[in-house]
Amino acid sequence: MSASVKAYGGSSGYIVSDELRNSVNIAIALQKPLLIKGEPGTGKTMLAQSIAEALNMDLIIWNIKSTTKAQEGLYVYDTVQRLYDSQFGDGDVGNIKKYIKLGKLGEAFLAPKQVVLLIDEIDKADLEFPNDLLWELDQMSFYIPETKETITAKQRPIVIITSNAEKELPDAFLRRCIFHYIAFPDPDTMESIISVHHPKLEKKLLEQAMETFYLLRNVPDIQKKPSTSELIDWLQALVVGGVNPNRIKKDLPFLGVLLKKNEDLDTLLQQLQGKGSTKNPGVLGRFR
Ligand SMILES: Nc1ncnc2c1ncn2[C@@H]1O[C@H](COP(=O)(O)OP(=O)(O)OP(=O)(O)O)[C@@H](O)[C@H]1O
Ligand SMILES: [Mg+2]
Repeated sequence: MSASVKAYGGSSGYIVSDELRNSVNIAIALQKPLLIKGEPGTGKTMLAQSIAEALNMDLIIWNIKSTTKAQEGLYVYDTVQRLYDSQFGDGDVGNIKKYIKLGKLGEAFLAPKQVVLLIDEIDKADLEFPNDLLWELDQMSFYIPETKETITAKQRPIVIITSNAEKELPDAFLRRCIFHYIAFPDPDTMESIISVHHPKLEKKLLEQAMETFYLLRNVPDIQKKPSTSELIDWLQALVVGGVNPNRIKKDLPFLGVLLKKNEDLDTLLQQLQGKGSTKNPGVLGRFR
């Protein structure tokens, strides 16, 4: 990698694997968007924050919703305001530029310094959305017919795109991205992640909570498996609640912090009843 290309080495609050760090650096060097997939809570959004922090760049976040259109990321022409001003205002409505509001892509292109642009949860939008952005992401440029202006990136932003894989993304879009799948953290990685958030946890509490958490993730038919963020919250609840570590696996305290769906709580209870009561200390062990 040439010395002029910025390299991402991780940041203090974010645990990153060597493979993920390499993918980030390849995407930066090749100037291609980095598409990150992975289960909810595996640190996809946080990666963009970590890159921005490590490279000392501003982060521009474009949160995608089911109704988001690609055009909104470029610019919006506020015709309603212009009409309003023409009737009630005293300004110059002939100056159309005043009514052109740049979207997140436009903002990233015109930023004075290189920025990190996060297009978060791209799979929430309709299928056309990724394809509609191909040209702009390739060229880092777009044309505004209303003002006859071309907006071109001063410096190509580092583009991070996340997806929970709710929908498959189009091939033409995938071809243009570097892809990385963040696997669910193994227990060792999870311990490192937890130590960032809860540096002073009692060893026994951590051990029991981790074991219970991974057993719960193994319970068959759970629709929404608890993820990293839920484990972090659960640990907090266990500490605040003053729970005795020896009772964690038996009592499953604050279960609602881990399982968020009624159906999943029912599934777990049914399975536990089928295999003994929740008071049985070894009951979750059957889901190993
Ligand atoms: N590698 C990590 N290092 C440190 N904290 C992490 C890491 N991965 C996840 N976390 C913790 O988990 C939380 C969830 O992470 P994040 O929001 O980035 O996940 P996500 O993959 O974007 O989830 P979603 O798909 O639900 O948006 C973070 O706020 C952070 O507390
Ligand atoms: Mg996210």
